[in-house]
Amino acid sequence: MAGDDVILVVEDVVKRFGGVVAVDHCSFSVRRGTITGLIGPNGAGKTTLFNIIAGFYRPDSGRIWFEGRRIDGLPPHRIFARKIARTFQIPRELKRMTVLENLMLVPEHQCGERLFDAWFRPRRVRRQEEAIRRQAEEVLKFVKLDHLRDAYAANLSGGQKKLLELARTMMSEARLILLDEPGAGVNPTLMRDLVGYIQHLREMGRTFLLIEHDMDLVMEICNPVIVMSNGRLLMEGTPEEVRRDPRVLEVYLGA
Ligand SMILES: Nc1ncnc2c1ncn2[C@@H]1O[C@H](COP(=O)(O)OP(=O)(O)O)[C@@H](O)[C@H]1O
Ligand SMILES: [Mg+2]
Repeated sequence: MAGDDVILVVEDVVKRFGGVVAVDHCSFSVRRGTITGLIGPNGAGKTTLFNIIAGFYRPDSGRIWFEGRRIDGLPPHRIFARKIARTFQIPRELKRMTVLENLMLVPEHQCGERLFDAWFRPRRVRRQEEAIRRQAEEVLKFVKLDHLRDAYAANLSGGQKKLLELARTMMSEARLILLDEPGAGVNPTLMRDLVGYIQHLREMGRTFLLIEHDMDLVMEICNPVIVMSNGRLLMEGTPEEVRRDPRVLEVYLGA
């Protein structure tokens, strides 16, 4: 059903919360190597869809394939292990760690053998840890957070936390990255940086599905753009097609 260039297929997915149909028979696919935009008014069902793809919610019905394999219904850690990352606010426990520690934890979570290794191969673990530390320091330099490497994550500004989130996905081997409103609360200068990093990661072969309210940002970096409204897929097209479509204007004005 999917050509080689399709990385994710969402087919006929439904999710209800009590009487609310948050996602209503949604189907679409994401091509590898794209930054695919997901837009729509508040309450359209975008975040719920992300949570379903990442395994935080189980769909009531429908199917999801990642790289040709079914993933719907798998728990979040299994989906992460398949190389899908979803960024969101830094969890509470990570706020009490330093910026560097936050990055160093990512590969550890990906490697199930570490506990075994720690007991039986301590030297190998130390070598791995050194490699991970070097990688973390490089990533921090790249996103210009290296001066904050020993700061507690809790003390970062909103924009710096977004950069840290993105840096954490750079430490992962995720091939599909789900970004939920990366621009929210980020000042214009940091925003330019963030855009540059996303485009850089795409050039390195990663695929993005990106929810964003800032229409200028969507039009600049996303192609194609998928529009949701009331849990349904309204349309999909190039940024220009979406901008021109009267139905899109209508759902935004109606919201
Ligand atoms: N955990 C939840 N419990 C009950 N209703 C929810 C829950 N999450 C989302 N909803 C409802 O589902 C609909 C879609 O919400 P959401 O996915 O957050 O939309 P969006 O991200 O597009 O703004 C909304 O009507 C929202 O109130
Ligand atoms: Mg949302």
